[in-house]
Amino acid sequence: MKLLIFWDVFGRVGREWLKRELPKLIEKYNPDFVIANVDNVSSWRWAIEKHILELERMWVDIMTSWDHIFDNFEKIKDYLARKDSRLLRCANFYEEDLAWKWFKVFEKNGKKLLVIHLQWEVFMNHKVTNPFLKAKEILELYKDENLDWIVLDFHNEASAEAYWLVNYLDWEISFMFGTHTHVQTNDDMILKKWTWFISDVGMNWPFYSVIWADFESVKPRFLSGINKWKIEQSLDDTYLVSWVYVEIWNDRKCEKIEKIRIIKK
Ligand SMILES: [Fe+2]
Repeated sequence: MKLLIFWDVFGRVGREWLKRELPKLIEKYNPDFVIANVDNVSSWRWAIEKHILELERMWVDIMTSWDHIFDNFEKIKDYLARKDSRLLRCANFYEEDLAWKWFKVFEKNGKKLLVIHLQWEVFMNHKVTNPFLKAKEILELYKDENLDWIVLDFHNEASAEAYWLVNYLDWEISFMFGTHTHVQTNDDMILKKWTWFISDVGMNWPFYSVIWADFESVKPRFLSGINKWKIEQSLDDTYLVSWVYVEIWNDRKCEKIEKIRIIKK
């Protein structure tokens, strides 16, 4: 199985970049599934349905999210409740009875891919349940099911938790990728029992910015502590793009990984 993974497709600039470049990348890599974490796909606040549908039309097969997804619950809940929703929210949230998708088996060409999405608590704003136990609980649900591959998006800030989680799940999942720190990490590795891992995939945004914010517009926040409401977007056209390409063989073992990070005008 071949996977193309993006995080973070940020705002209008990120969506436009993806729309322009994804057909070329699909031709180059011929992926079975395209995965994108869309936490900031509608800029800093939340993913709106219009933008989720826009990514659907671009052949993005699976979308993960957090930690902004609940900021816009009313506007996104109908889409999340759809049977064919391609959007997942984190599994370890307390309100488990809500009809939102939190892990799901995606099927293509007769092959089954289970995608799990979890969030860690350190330096995050939300209260969540233990991600280690939740991962085991979900895997237990599928233990008798004939799945071809299992992947996990761990939305986290602290790499130590990510390292521990992936070691805890080594050989039970095909690979785990991290999102949320916005920096592509140089720690991709294949663990002792063959699960593959990277603690952050990296993001797509204007390079000279603070998570897409113009430096001047966030100055008060850092120098005086005054939190200016209106953060302005950086208009710099130097752009950072990053993605990860993965090949996993039929025995669930990861065979090839490629991480790309390009800065261009
Ligand atoms: Fe996030």
